[in-house]
Amino acid sequence: MITNTELEQKGNQFPNSVKNIRQEVDTLYFTTENNVILELTVLRDSVVRFRYGTRGILEEDFSYAIDPDNHIGYNHLELSENKNFHIVTTAKLIIKIEKISLQTKILDTEGNLINEDELGFHYEESFTLGGNIVKMSKRSHPGEAFYGLGDKPVHLNLRGRRFSNWATDSYAFGKETDPIYKSVPFYIGLKDKRAYGIFFDNTFKSTFDFCQERLDVTSFWAPGGEMNYYFIYGPEMSEVVQNYTHLTGKPELPPLWTLGFQQCKWSYYPESTVKGIAKKFRDLKIPCDGIYLDIDYMEGFRCFTWNKEYFPDPKRMVKELLNDGFKTIVIIDPGIKIDPDYWVYKEALENGYFCKRADGPDMIGKVWPGECAFPDYTNPEVREWWAGLFKELVGEIGVRGVWNDMNEPAVMEVPGKTFPDDVRHDFDGHPCSHRKAHNVYGTQMARATYEGVKKYVYPKRPLVITRSAYSGAQRFTSSWTGDNVATWEHLWIANNQVQRMCLSGMSFTGTDIGGFAEQPTGELFARWIQLGVFHPFCRVHSSGHHGDQEPWSFDDEVTDIARKFIELRYTFLPYLYTMFYEYATEGIPMLKPLVYFDQEDPHTHYRTDEFIFGNNILVCPIIEPNSKGRRMYLARGRWYNFWTEEYLEGGRELWVDADIDSIPMFVQEGAIIPRYPVQQYVGELSIEELKLDVYYAEDTIDSQVYEDANDGYDYKKGRYSLRNFKLRGKATDLTIQQHKGGNFETEYDTIKLHLIGLPFRIKKIKVDNVAYDLNNLDKEDKFLKLPEDFSVVQIIG
Ligand code: GLC
Repeated sequence: MITNTELEQKGNQFPNSVKNIRQEVDTLYFTTENNVILELTVLRDSVVRFRYGTRGILEEDFSYAIDPDNHIGYNHLELSENKNFHIVTTAKLIIKIEKISLQTKILDTEGNLINEDELGFHYEESFTLGGNIVKMSKRSHPGEAFYGLGDKPVHLNLRGRRFSNWATDSYAFGKETDPIYKSVPFYIGLKDKRAYGIFFDNTFKSTFDFCQERLDVTSFWAPGGEMNYYFIYGPEMSEVVQNYTHLTGKPELPPLWTLGFQQCKWSYYPESTVKGIAKKFRDLKIPCDGIYLDIDYMEGFRCFTWNKEYFPDPKRMVKELLNDGFKTIVIIDPGIKIDPDYWVYKEALENGYFCKRADGPDMIGKVWPGECAFPDYTNPEVREWWAGLFKELVGEIGVRGVWNDMNEPAVMEVPGKTFPDDVRHDFDGHPCSHRKAHNVYGTQMARATYEGVKKYVYPKRPLVITRSAYSGAQRFTSSWTGDNVATWEHLWIANNQVQRMCLSGMSFTGTDIGGFAEQPTGELFARWIQLGVFHPFCRVHSSGHHGDQEPWSFDDEVTDIARKFIELRYTFLPYLYTMFYEYATEGIPMLKPLVYFDQEDPHTHYRTDEFIFGNNILVCPIIEPNSKGRRMYLARGRWYNFWTEEYLEGGRELWVDADIDSIPMFVQEGAIIPRYPVQQYVGELSIEELKLDVYYAEDTIDSQVYEDANDGYDYKKGRYSLRNFKLRGKATDLTIQQHKGGNFETEYDTIKLHLIGLPFRIKKIKVDNVAYDLNNLDKEDKFLKLPEDFSVVQIIG
């Protein structure tokens, strides 16, 4: 064990004895003899911020990650002391701060130790010895597991590894590549089945070590900025993730079509190709809502221009596509081509909107268009200008969504593939170097894009997609996981990344289905589509260098499988929309890793493949070639096999058949799953009835279905429909009560119940206390048609 004295010789400094304490409402300041300040703020009873300043100084408080609308409020805050500790008590936590060292221990109110400092806060300021690093180390315990950190392409449980956060263009990254595109310095610890979270809101290149260097220590540090972290207590992992998402923000509801299927490629051009792809979807009756134009639609890769040879009349084309249900989404990169005749370049140059090197000139780097300059999106004036650039593209031409790429920012042919460290940024009035602004650059670009698209697409809702992101980006944008590869290993990576993103506050994420680099076999494509339809963002994309990657690009069998699963997704649209609503309002992740679903069950702590889609559907992709099925872990509880309706007891491993046209899928008993008919695109059909798949349970279970106009903002004025269902199953009867909220009138008059797993023969049915003619019951399928506004239905055996 290395001693503090030895560490000090290496340049580390430590806080010493507390000499002064000051309280300002929810914030306590502990100042030490050697002038370290700990600012401790209670945001909620279970959310506490720790921020450390040295030399008696705290920086001006500013964060891109924290949602300005984040609500705070706690029930209890009390400061006391004993011989060795100052003690801060909230309604959920006891925080002990050691008087001689500022080291903290955090306990729940029952006295269980949740998290404790090892060395705690320490730092290096001496440039001769390395300089300017803020560090935190925590003790960790055997069996403690760690999750989160955004897009890391590794096993869900991060224990035993070290990662850094520095947004990086990572073409054809692999399992273990680190860092890649996103920086989300937030993790969840699970100790003795109790979960807590730590969000280190520091935008420098932070590093996290989860017991890699030392088995019993977890640490995180950054080469600049402040030690500034939020501690979020559960004990449920769901509470941790929700509180983190409240803190860093939730998205607004996207238009429903963005949850439909999206088709992309680098690149579809000219217009006749785009039209041909669209037509083929309709001819083959494969549902699709979005079609994407990659960089070749532009004139010489100049953003906000069109190649008029390929696209002579974009407005007409976009309209014609829309008439057939296709929304057009275009790519916009940050690199602005240096060309004195190009209006975007000229405007930015004249106004000084480009990022500059420390000694003055504009930052110049090569991207697709050749030499480019790069707007400084960390400047609010630049963001406003950028937003205005979407007027023609979105407001006049009618593009519905914008895809932001290369925003790490990526620079070609240079070491590090990005800006040099000395580049200057405004950072919203806190001028700094690229070392501090790098990780937020992509998010601020997506934010500026979002403001523009939102303004000009109004009264519709916007869609923005980003490759790079920092915590909080979810308020503005969806994301995809970048340039993956068409290999089986990448299918595993895709599954882990999307689950991890969901735990990290960024549910609206998908992967390039089929793989971006290289070419998938038909079998791999089929297996990827089967997984991809369960991801919140569902888009096929490929580099196009090795062949086509449309659902029909393989053989008829693969086309049929792709159609079957895309259709399945469309039938789940109301379920998907409801899970998005729960994400947007409560911060509930759309997919839940098994450990989130049941942290009490230690079997889940190391599972990666199985996840819960929404609240009730357990999915486990097939990720190996030539499979006829697989072994998997069915979480505790009771489940119905989605395909066979077989009733199964969980909490065990089992073999599940899943030939090439199937995927293991189980519905939790008691679930009510809303379904729409298959449509070729959202809004193609008027929905004439809502189907509810009701999975009997001898239990009482609540569920809900959210609907609205699928676009626009009327829902904010109460024009939504929220159906709350209470299912009560007994040995010989099943009751479902409905309570409706909101004042949106759904199109349909009928709700069709499909009863699954009833353990008794139906003798009588009552709907709102009136007997239901059993002759109307479809005996075989047990379909029961009800008025959409029924209050209670009783099915009696
Ligand atoms: C980057 C993106 C990819 C895109 C390509 C061309 O590689 O990650 O999605 O197709 O650039 O724009």
